[in-house]
Amino acid sequence: MNSQKDSKIHGIEKYHHFDDSHDSDVTGQLKSVYADWADAYDDDNDNKLGTVSQPTTVAMLTRHCGDSEAQIMDVGCGTGLVGLHLQRAGFKHYDGTDISAEMMAHAKTRGYRKLLDLNPGEQLAADESTYDAVLCVGVFTHGHLGPEGFDELIRIAKPGGLICFTVNEGVWDEAHFDEAIEAHAQNAVWRVLEQSKLDYMVNEGVQAWYITAQKLG
Ligand SMILES: C[S@@+](CC[C@H](N)C(=O)[O-])C[C@H]1O[C@@H](n2cnc3c(N)ncnc32)[C@H](O)[C@@H]1O
Repeated sequence: MNSQKDSKIHGIEKYHHFDDSHDSDVTGQLKSVYADWADAYDDDNDNKLGTVSQPTTVAMLTRHCGDSEAQIMDVGCGTGLVGLHLQRAGFKHYDGTDISAEMMAHAKTRGYRKLLDLNPGEQLAADESTYDAVLCVGVFTHGHLGPEGFDELIRIAKPGGLICFTVNEGVWDEAHFDEAIEAHAQNAVWRVLEQSKLDYMVNEGVQAWYITAQKLG
């Protein structure tokens, strides 16, 4: 990426220029993108991208979990749009974690019990088998997180707990998400309850896979 060009663009433009193929410090670049975009993210989410992943994922959760007392973790919570929809759906106990402090600063008013800093590649700040549901919305996408990220979501879910996530259609084949999901099913790590390809960023014509899996064991 051209750093001179990079310094002149901000917010959603910087996100659109984000290119994980040339820079060895992809994580640093990603954190810089979100630090720059945090203040405008919600407005761009609704009005530029037309992103519908947050309500669609929470609706998927409610099809499998009707317990408003469920303990929920939102991984990659960003500004807390998922929390907003969890609150509207009546869920009372949800935590969030993200690699971007600037994004999470906006989540403080959205009902999260705890907002936890996350260092990419490190364990989530939660014990094994803690949550009834683990959500991860908008994170399995270009340059963010690959299927290796499933391990931590599974670790912090309770046996019988739900793991609800989106995968951008643009990374589905190249990162072999379908094979990773199937491998966990074959190894009796989880059981897939729902898998649908639906709208994701409507104004960009992008869809995602929406998946709910149940941790076994
Ligand atoms: C497209 S935003 C989605 C935010 C929120 N979930 C939503 O739906 O509005 C992606 C978020 O993932 C975070 N992120 C990127 N890499 C991550 C990782 N390895 N683990 C957790 N979060 C990550 C970013 O900081 C950003 O807040």
